[in-house]
Amino acid sequence: MDQSLYAAVGGRDVVAEAVRRLYDRMLTDPVVAGAFVDVDLRRLRGHMQAFLAGSLGGEVEYDGRDLRTAHASVHITDDMFDRTVSHLVDTLGALGCEPDVTDEVVVRLAALRDQVVTPIGTVGRDLGNA
Ligand code: HEM
Repeated sequence: MDQSLYAAVGGRDVVAEAVRRLYDRMLTDPVVAGAFVDVDLRRLRGHMQAFLAGSLGGEVEYDGRDLRTAHASVHITDDMFDRTVSHLVDTLGALGCEPDVTDEVVVRLAALRDQVVTPIGTVGRDLGNA
């Protein structure tokens, strides 16, 4: 993956600030805030920062779980995913990212949807007895 998108976003400092602001927004958004009850936010911010930097082409070591495993017990809907991406878009805009750079970030994140969103039919059901 190329380094250029990471650089275009503004590198380490901008990604770190974007992640800080992203979670501040998420925690005050009733659609998604419930997902973060009892979650160690300091650790999550660190992992998200490393993951995002890596997804944008930065040379950053991510040592967390794979996304599917990490989100398996969170029950995330498409709507929650969309809200999260939209918060990140607003945050990057506020930090001065150009719209075409932000669009490219959205493309990278959209590719992760299937690993993050809980498949329909598995929420609150015991599939073994279905
Ligand atoms: C492209 C979108 C997303 C990315 C790249 C992402 C990335 C991550 C990463 C890297 C972790 C840490 C994994 C670990 O600690 O091993 C994580 C955990 C988590 N994410 Fe996401 N995430 C995304 C979307 C979402 C959404 C939409 C929600 C809910 C609204 C969410 C809620 C959580 C929660 C609650 C955890 C902590 C789970 C736990 O520790 O048990 N994530 N995410």
